[in-house]
Amino acid sequence: MDTYEAILSKRDIRHYTDQEIEDEVLDRILQAGRMAGSAKNEEVLRLIVVRDQTVQDALAEAGDFVSWIGSSAVIIGFAAPSSSMRLFDVGRQAQNMMVAANAEGVATCPVTLQHADKARSATGLPDDWEMPMALTLGWPLPGRPDSPLKRKRVPLAELVVHDRWS
Ligand SMILES: Cc1cc2nc3c(=O)[nH]c(=O)nc-3n(C[C@H](O)[C@H](O)[C@H](O)COP(=O)(O)O)c2cc1C
Repeated sequence: MDTYEAILSKRDIRHYTDQEIEDEVLDRILQAGRMAGSAKNEEVLRLIVVRDQTVQDALAEAGDFVSWIGSSAVIIGFAAPSSSMRLFDVGRQAQNMMVAANAEGVATCPVTLQHADKARSATGLPDDWEMPMALTLGWPLPGRPDSPLKRKRVPLAELVVHDRWS
């Protein structure tokens, strides 16, 4: 799969098989996140890699739309001190990793962890850190149902405004 195809074919998938993700595959995905640039080059984010079922189940209490996350092969949480959390940095690392995962055949989905205290206690983060977002990863389940949120993207002509709003 070439890079452009890996980007364009990426869809968010929440149904996974029981198969583990091998360390070599996961390392390539994590490297893709590592190489994303960060604001002021500060690299404040740390990636919390969760395979442990008890921790996954505890994280399922930290979000409002998270029904599938306990069946992930891996959850990767984006953590930083609350005073320096930058969601643009999270987005860059997340998309790098999701595209790299897609190229490996690994399915992913972003998940929002609205309840900072629960995300913190699930993973043992310090009180002044937060983890507002995570990714779930797993090998895609064949014949899985479509997401209820599935729809076409906004057409390019509607998405793009040239020069000035009109
Ligand atoms: C910032 C962000 C937060 C998201 N949080 C959740 C979430 O909490 N639960 C969920 O089921 N999907 C979540 N998603 C996934 C979106 O629903 C998904 O990107 C969208 O439906 C497009 O899916 P598709 O690529 O399969 O078309 C999130 C996506 C983004 C970008």
